[in-house]
This record gives sequence, C-alpha cells and structure tokens, in this order.
Amino acid sequence: MRLTIFGTGYVGLVTGACLADVGHQVVCVDVDAQKIARLNAGEIPIHEPGLEDVVARNVAAGTLEFTTDIELAVSHAQVQFIAVGTPPDESGAADLKYVLAVAESIGKSMDKRKVVVVKSTVPVGTSDKVRAKLRDVLGGRGSDLDFDVVSNPEFLKEGAAVNDFLKPDRIIIGAATDHAREVMKELYEPFNRSHDRTIYMDVRSAELTKYAANAMLATKISFINEIANLAELLGADIEEVRRGIGADPRIGYHFIYPGLGYGGSCFPKDVQALGRTASDIGYDAPLIAAVEAVNNRQKTTIFDKISSHFGGKSALAGKTIAVWGLAFKPNTDDMREAPARVLIEALWDAGAKVVAYDPVAMAETGRIYGQRDDFVLAKDKYSALEDADALVVCTEWQQFRAPDFEEMAERLATKLIFDGRNIFAPDRLKRDGWTYFSVGRAPVYP
Ligand code: UDX
Repeated sequence: MRLTIFGTGYVGLVTGACLADVGHQVVCVDVDAQKIARLNAGEIPIHEPGLEDVVARNVAAGTLEFTTDIELAVSHAQVQFIAVGTPPDESGAADLKYVLAVAESIGKSMDKRKVVVVKSTVPVGTSDKVRAKLRDVLGGRGSDLDFDVVSNPEFLKEGAAVNDFLKPDRIIIGAATDHAREVMKELYEPFNRSHDRTIYMDVRSAELTKYAANAMLATKISFINEIANLAELLGADIEEVRRGIGADPRIGYHFIYPGLGYGGSCFPKDVQALGRTASDIGYDAPLIAAVEAVNNRQKTTIFDKISSHFGGKSALAGKTIAVWGLAFKPNTDDMREAPARVLIEALWDAGAKVVAYDPVAMAETGRIYGQRDDFVLAKDKYSALEDADALVVCTEWQQFRAPDFEEMAERLATKLIFDGRNIFAPDRLKRDGWTYFSVGRAPVYP
C-alpha cells in the first residue's frame, strides 16, 4: 500500500520506517527542511536501537522517502497518518495546533477519498476536531472528496520502539466505517499473520485507550514509589515487598520497580493531559492528580537523602557529586522530564559541582545545559568519580550494574553511593565498607 506519514519525530519516523519495512511504499513529510535534508543524507536525529538500519535499508530499496513537499505527500497515498507533536500548552493541555495544521494541509491538497489516521497522542475528541477541520477546508467540494478519520494510537517504548512496532502486543483501531476498518486491516495485515492482534473500537474509545494505558502504567510506578517511601520509614525492604506482591499474577512483576519517578516524553505529559481532560468536563479525578503529585515528589527524594546525609543543603556548597546516568531511562538519549535533571539542578542550587556520565545522553545534556563551571561531562564512568564526595545513580544502564567497586573506591574521595534505581546489593556494599543509600531500603553503613 502507499502511505503518507506527517511528522518525522520519534513516532512518525519509527512508524514510517517500520511500515516501509513490511513492504508498504511510504512517504514521510515534515515542514522542517533541515531535518528532511539530514534524513535524506542517512542521518537519524534520535538514538533508537535498530532504527538506523531499518531506515537505511528501506531508503536504499526505494520504499521509504522523505520530503517537505506537502502536495506530493498528500497525493502519494490514500492513507495519511498524522504523527506530529502535541506538546503541553501553558495549562498542561495537549496543544493541537500541529495536528490541526496537518489536517488543514491534507484538506487543501485532497483530490480523492482519504483515510486520515491520527497516530499522535491526542485528547479524546481530537479526531472529531480533525474531521471538522477537514470538512471546513473542503467546504463545498464534491462528495467524492469524502474522508474517514481513524484513531490509531502508538504504544512504543523508547529504546525498544522498532521491536514494539514490528511485534505489537495489540493494534488499536478506532474507526467509524467499514471502509476505514478494511483499509486499516489491509495496512496492518503483515503484523497479524500469526494471530490477529487488532482490536477495533469506536474512535473515542481508541483515543482514551492510549491515555488509560499510560496512566495505568504511571499509577503502578507512583504506587510502588509510595510504598517504597513507606517501607523506608517502617524499616521494611521494598525489594522484598516487590517480589512478594509481584508473585500475584493479578499484580505481576512488570512495572513495579521503585526509583526516582517516571520521566520521558509520555507519562508526565499524558497523565497531566488526562487530568486536564477530566477537569475540562467537570470531573474530579483525584487518583490521576495523585499519580502526578507522587511522581513530582519522588523526583526530589534522592536530593533530600544527599542533603540530609551531609547535614543540610548549605553543607553541599563546594562538594563534588558524581552522577551516573542522565537519560530518563536506559537505551535512550532522551532527557525529557528525566529525574536526573531535577537532582542536578537542585545540586547546583545548593552550590555543589556535578560530574556526570551517561553512555549516550552526554551530547543531549550538553545541549540543554551548555558550558557551566559547576558541570563536567566525564569521558567514562570511572573518571566521573575522581575525587567526588559521592556517587549518585540516576539511570540503570547495564554497564553500571556490575562495576569494579575497588576502582570506584580508589577514585572517589568517600565510599558513598546514593542509588536511585536499586541496582546494587546492600549486603555486598556493606561488606566492602561502603555507605549506601537506595530507594525503599534501609541505608547501609560500613
Ligand atoms: C511509555 C510506555 O511504556 C509506552 O507504551 C508509551 O507508548 C509511551 O510511554 P517510554 O516513555 O518510552 O514508554 O518509557 P517506559 O519504558 O515506559 O518508562 C517510563 C518511565 O517509567 C521511565 O522513567 C522509567 O524509568 C520509569 N519506570 C518504569 C519506573 O520507574 N519503574 C518501572 O517499573 C518501570
């Protein structure tokens, strides 16, 4: 099938590349000419395992093209995906201006019947707005210019997006007509050969499914973090509690890891937007608000532990703190809403110097913070520790899990670790004479 994808951001690029990979003829279009030029030169603007190969082989095969030519993109295909950003506006609501601008472009250049697929994460009711915009732009033009608007949310995890797309748990299609359902069925047929993973529903339910999935996952994280904080105060061990509750298949082991709070481009934004949707219709949604509040507080817990260990915020002035891991989670260079940022900014505010290392997010961190006297990006994980007063682990990259503790002890000024991801074993650190703070577990002293 011929397909057009509007937006070459994270979602659009993965969607376009993966749909090309199963044999569709895909055109990706973006208003950012520089981005399109880079993509045409084979440069992938994001760090996403496997994506570069998928893009390269499909560009070489001629199944994937990048363009800024909107008219060409609209006339290329019957199916038009909208995969542009929906950043939060000042009020926390998802800003739809890019989505509606694409709808307008499609409407203006439309020459025959189209299926317009909304892939961006958008509040419930947005597909109706896209429909209204298309109607509006089409005005009195003939009925052969009819169109369908479909909601087809994505469920891609950063760092695993290519695999998630190619091997989906489910494909959600919110459609109002048989025609739209048939077109979407044909489009996703290559993913459904072993068994059909598609769930068809009405458009609004599909839109809400996306928010409900992310809010449910975020709730699990805020819940375990709340219990972790309680465990610390009650003298219990959250890792034992996690194992204990996860054994119940109704709870399960996935997504109940305590830590520094969730970050990234989805959970914080989507939980906030869902809360906003609820308040817009006059519904009080205390659970959703609490998920966000618990998460915001969780992001400050590690700083509080550091500060209280050293004897208060003022005692941090002039200290050097090493940070391992900057990205909001492993296998990505994404720094959006990363808990490490909250920590680093609090350390600076207290007058401390930060020496940080992350396997892939260094360039992105440098871009965000620029040159500062109180910030050093170290060349590797051990050199980050040189004469530092403590190490803080913010992201659980594999390469941090089994480090050479002797080398660490030699480099650090003090054998002191604050572990925001519980990646080390307290017994082992105690035996080796470390002071060790983690999440939801008693501190360890030598
Ligand atoms: C998420 C959803 O998983 C995905 O389905 C959706 O499409 C987009 O949002 P992503 O933002 O890439 O994907 O990250 P994810 O792997 O879900 O992690 C989100 C955050 O939760 C990270 O900051 C992670 O560190 C944190 N997390 C996750 C925990 O703190 N504990 C856990 O047990 C799991």
